[in-house]
Amino acid sequence: MNEHIQGYSRLNPFIAKIKSREDLCYSCNKKTTQHIVIDIHGSGIAYEVGDCVGIFPVNDPVLLSRTLEAMHATGEEMITDARSGNSFLLRDFLSMKANVTDIGRNLLKEVADREPDLRKKEELEQLLIPQHSHKLKEYLFGKHLWDILLYHSESVFTPQELCDMLMPLLPRFYSIASSQKAVGDEIHLTVKLLSYESHGHERKGVCTHYLCNLIPTEEPIIPLFIQPHNGFTVPKSGDTPIIMVGPGTGVAPFRAFMQERIARGDEGKNWLFFGEWNRDHHFLYRDYWFDLEKKGLLRVSAAFSRDQEHKIYVQDLLKEHGREIFQLLEEGAVFYVCGDAKKMAKDVDKTLHEIVSVWGNFLPEATKEYMKNLRKDKRYLRDVY
Ligand SMILES: Cc1cc2nc3c(=O)[nH]c(=O)nc-3n(C[C@H](O)[C@H](O)[C@H](O)COP(=O)(O)OP(=O)(O)OC[C@H]3O[C@@H](n4cnc5c(N)ncnc54)[C@H](O)[C@@H]3O)c2cc1C
Ligand SMILES: NC(=O)c1ccc[n+]([C@@H]2O[C@H](COP(=O)([O-])OP(=O)(O)OC[C@H]3O[C@@H](n4cnc5c(N)ncnc54)[C@H](OP(=O)(O)O)[C@@H]3O)[C@@H](O)[C@H]2O)c1
Repeated sequence: MNEHIQGYSRLNPFIAKIKSREDLCYSCNKKTTQHIVIDIHGSGIAYEVGDCVGIFPVNDPVLLSRTLEAMHATGEEMITDARSGNSFLLRDFLSMKANVTDIGRNLLKEVADREPDLRKKEELEQLLIPQHSHKLKEYLFGKHLWDILLYHSESVFTPQELCDMLMPLLPRFYSIASSQKAVGDEIHLTVKLLSYESHGHERKGVCTHYLCNLIPTEEPIIPLFIQPHNGFTVPKSGDTPIIMVGPGTGVAPFRAFMQERIARGDEGKNWLFFGEWNRDHHFLYRDYWFDLEKKGLLRVSAAFSRDQEHKIYVQDLLKEHGREIFQLLEEGAVFYVCGDAKKMAKDVDKTLHEIVSVWGNFLPEATKEYMKNLRKDKRYLRDVY
């Protein structure tokens, strides 16, 4: 754990600026992943590789206008923040304090109670029955506050009443993609812009849109804090081999790991399993990995899922190299996984079990025991989201 995360915290964030942004996807208009360099000069912030940064975003002005319009408000109204007791212009409160993209049950219930159209009222009441929570989740997916207010335009609220029911705008977390030994007073991030269409409208993720598109560079306006890792960091011993599995933005901490190990002069083996859509367009940090490979500091195995008819994923490459993976585990390697929790991490976990079972020639109980020991010894570490 970090011992010196000075002064700045979630409650007292440092106001940082973006130094530069660079597209990591080459001539591709379907996916945007950016390398973002944040300047923390003067903060005294010290971070470790494996740490994340928490960032408080600001809502997009376009989203703000739509929300104000649906609220029949100008933004110049004064409201009181029920949480802090502080007064705000409605415009500022909605920009910086309120979650206007997710809707809670309490708000929906109030909308239903005030809905004079009996069909619409019944529709909402059905969704609010506790046993229908999956249907409610489906109904709300891809809808923002303004969608609900427009559809239920006869449910009338004052701005204060609405603000009292909105959830707070929470910070988003990003894996740090740099080592301070290599970059000093900077934090590097690997950010995928969330962008999708739903209910006939183009929508963007609040924080990724803020970071990738909205904030001007060189202006100190990003409130951030360090979220220390919970053991997901490089091994203390420089001789320990490491296997890093990081598809997509999951690769971010492994760029930091490599910078750290190189700065320390570590001599342990480093093996990266990276995955993305196409080799030509989405090979994030390709030149950096190739350079390290050329210097004999890293081995890279890359799986490109959309370069051929059938999907090739990181776990396919792990399986292909199963014997060597098991051998490295026997030599004391640490196995790291970062990225998508819903599918990738589960599939990689299954594959690791298979590798241990096949190459260790273990029965199911012995495989479970081996995996349990890997976890207990902190040699199977995951940072998945
Ligand atoms: C520990 C940790 C580390 C992370 N590291 C990174 C990192 O290094 N890089 C990175 O890019 N991200 C990372 N993330 C994810 C990041 O924190 C954010 O969740 C992500 O960037 C999206 O934030 P947003 O504000 O842009 O999106 P939000 O505004 O929060 O939008 C997300 C919501 O949009 C909705 N949505 C998404 N897709 C669709 C769709 N197709 N249709 C309808 N609705 C949809 C869903 O309701 C979803 O919950 C990390 C997360 C954690 C917890
Ligand atoms: N909620 C979800 O279901 C979901 C899914 C993925 C990512 N995410 C989020 O998206 C962000 C990262 O996105 P990203 O575009 O950088 O990376 P990504 O979506 O994880 O994609 C990176 C690579 O992983 C592949 N992949 C898809 N399913 C996989 C699986 N089961 N096992 C192994 N690899 C798999 C993708 O292939 P294909 O796309 O060609 O299949 C792609 O080649 C994170 O915030 C993550 O949590 C969410």
